[in-house]
Amino acid sequence: MEQFTFYNPTQVFFGKGTLAAIKEQIPRYGKKVLLVYGGGSIKRNGIYDQIMKYLQEIGAEVLELSGVEPNPRLSTVHKGVEICKKEKVDFLLAAGGGSVIDATKAISAGAKYDGDVWDIIIKKAVPKDALPFGTVLTLSATGSEMNSGSVITNWETKEKIGWGHPLVFPKFSILDPVHTFTVPKDQTVYGIVDMMSHALEHYFSPAPNVPYNERMVEGLLSTVIETAPKLLEDLENYEARETIMFCGMMALNGVINQGMRGDWGTHGIEHAVSAVYDIPHGGGLAILFPNWIRYNLDVTEAKMKQLAIRVFGVDPQGKSDREIAEEGIDRLREFWSSIGAPSRLADYGIDDSKLELMAEKAVAHGSLGRMKKLTKEDVYEIYKMSL
Ligand code: NZQ
Ligand code: ZN
Repeated sequence: MEQFTFYNPTQVFFGKGTLAAIKEQIPRYGKKVLLVYGGGSIKRNGIYDQIMKYLQEIGAEVLELSGVEPNPRLSTVHKGVEICKKEKVDFLLAAGGGSVIDATKAISAGAKYDGDVWDIIIKKAVPKDALPFGTVLTLSATGSEMNSGSVITNWETKEKIGWGHPLVFPKFSILDPVHTFTVPKDQTVYGIVDMMSHALEHYFSPAPNVPYNERMVEGLLSTVIETAPKLLEDLENYEARETIMFCGMMALNGVINQGMRGDWGTHGIEHAVSAVYDIPHGGGLAILFPNWIRYNLDVTEAKMKQLAIRVFGVDPQGKSDREIAEEGIDRLREFWSSIGAPSRLADYGIDDSKLELMAEKAVAHGSLGRMKKLTKEDVYEIYKMSL
């Protein structure tokens, strides 16, 4: 195993009806609450009304920041920071998917920083303080509800950058599977691909002697693979939503990868695509991940072989390690295609005109990948394989 420290202070309220917990949680932090949400899904499905009712019951003074975009933008974070500073907000409540939560994390740090919050995102400055915030998760995908990471897009410079700090763990997160009933099929698929990709990023780790971690990751992947078709057949299947919500949280809350730091190259490669083309994160990952594994088979073969046998049911009889690993990659691609995930950049109308630019962006912020450090040329080749 690799050396690790584990810290995760987020209090999780999981299950049907847990939203009421905001009534005893929020008053601990103050009265003035900024409710942060996206393009309106919480208004259409009634979550907004439920939250407002509880906030009124505790006498909170509520301000709102709506319109957080999928792939949340720095300009929206700036708006939130301005409100917090001007209105002296005590607490932020994020209600939405990863984008809303990530924007809230940046607002939380930006509200207590004198300069431009972009300094923190690009690691030019380290946050010394942050406004406390909680989340009401409405889409299972990123794990942002129980981690201290955030990904923000600067649309002017076409940069999408991940950052994180222990100060921006949510104080609490409400995970009620019913809140995800209205997530449409395509977003449900993207979420499934994203959580599986987090598991895969952990799995492709150079850490030695991680038998239990590997089993945890394999367990998560097998569970998602088993559950996804049931959920996609019936988007209001409570048990399936519950399982997927739990897997999404576990895939990126730091538990299953203790002592096993993952590769994360594919996430870097994908962020450069969504920075330039604004495509959904999970869609980009579905296209790129199998190609990253295949391109790097010189270092991924042993892990992929193990995954092929244990998770994808590949029969190893009479096959070479390379053949087993390749068959495993095919099964991963087939599974994602079977649930309706995209498999080529062309599915988003992306051609070869900006591959060079994207490859440059992907490697612009330091080292990319741990199994193998990827160069700009490597990234370019992976994009080419993905056309
Ligand atoms: O904006 P609204 O109207 O709320 O609609 C959203 C949005 O259009 C909709 N949606 C969310 N909950 C819904 C719903 N529609 C109906 N019913 C509901 N209950 O879904 C759309 C996508 O939402 P978004 O928050 O963008 O999706 P996701 O949770 O997949 O977040 C993606 C973002 O998270 C980043 C990604 O890069 C991307 O920017 N990531 C964050 C990570 C983290 N903080 O740890 C890690 C990830 O690897 C990822 O990079
Ligand atoms: Zn992801």
